[in-house]
Amino acid sequence: MTTTWTRRHVLSLADFTSDEYNTVLQTAASFSEVLSRRTKKVPTLQGQVVANLFFESSTRTRSSFELAAKRLSADILNFAAANSSLSKGETILDTAKTYLAMGTDMMVIRHKDAGVPSAIALEMDRLGVKVGILNAGDGQHEHPSQALLDLFTICTVIDPQQPRLELLAGKKVAIVGDILHSRVARSNIWSLTASGAEVHLAAPPTLLPQLFTDFANNRPGKLFLHWKLENALQEADFVMTLRLQKERMTSHLLPSLREYQQLFGITRQVLQLCKPTVKVLHPGPVNRGVEISSDLMDDPRLSLISTQVTSGVAVRMALLYLMGSGKA
Ligand code: NCD
Repeated sequence: MTTTWTRRHVLSLADFTSDEYNTVLQTAASFSEVLSRRTKKVPTLQGQVVANLFFESSTRTRSSFELAAKRLSADILNFAAANSSLSKGETILDTAKTYLAMGTDMMVIRHKDAGVPSAIALEMDRLGVKVGILNAGDGQHEHPSQALLDLFTICTVIDPQQPRLELLAGKKVAIVGDILHSRVARSNIWSLTASGAEVHLAAPPTLLPQLFTDFANNRPGKLFLHWKLENALQEADFVMTLRLQKERMTSHLLPSLREYQQLFGITRQVLQLCKPTVKVLHPGPVNRGVEISSDLMDDPRLSLISTQVTSGVAVRMALLYLMGSGKA
């Protein structure tokens, strides 16, 4: 490894350096190799405690962090908001301090509101304790581990042996769907534009508002906005589809799901506009047949959805390892 990791918390990709991206990619590649062995466990984080604090629903992110921590031999505490003391009036900060008092070394935090993981990280720093905070998705803000696993997945398609940021230079990546509500899109915009890829966002205007024009103006030649799917897909190398996040929509932003599916749904037919080698990603969970057609989703020649889930464990092992060993 060429770089020393100095980051205690991973809250956002906004200030990630190329070295940091490459360190995560290389470390994830070695853990991916560990996960292909018969014995898939290493003693790296033995004795360390990882707490999964999920204040919002999750299937893959929560399980993926749990498995990653177990594969590194850490002890894992799983917290689920629904049956916790939050219902008795305990604050989120007091919940975090409770886990701190049990000797937690790293907290993986998901919350429906933007900024909660950062607020907990600030409090831990103020207390002077060496606890690493990992943002596992905060409101519409960021989801760094998802974007890092997407990056790893894309890079390993190009070079399975040596995934690295530079492989994406000049590639065209289309991100399609509910961009407005997507923390996955926001984190991916940071990582993909840092890689030198051309990022093309496509959505109906209600799901791709003015704010993103400002983002695009700040990244000339790197980030492009489209309100018609076809322009984003032309010659694309990768297409990242996003879930319509109905639970985050506070007003009617779409005339109907059927119309959305007809104009922005990813199907085999619209993929013909892309490069012949195109691959499709989706962070999950999927509204089958809405943002992506059901048969496409299940076609391993075109869809990287299962690979993303598999890669997620190695990438999260890398993050826990880098944060945990930095502390040591
Ligand atoms: C995403 C999330 O929760 O932000 N899912 C995930 O973590 N894999 C995307 C979504 O909810 O649509």
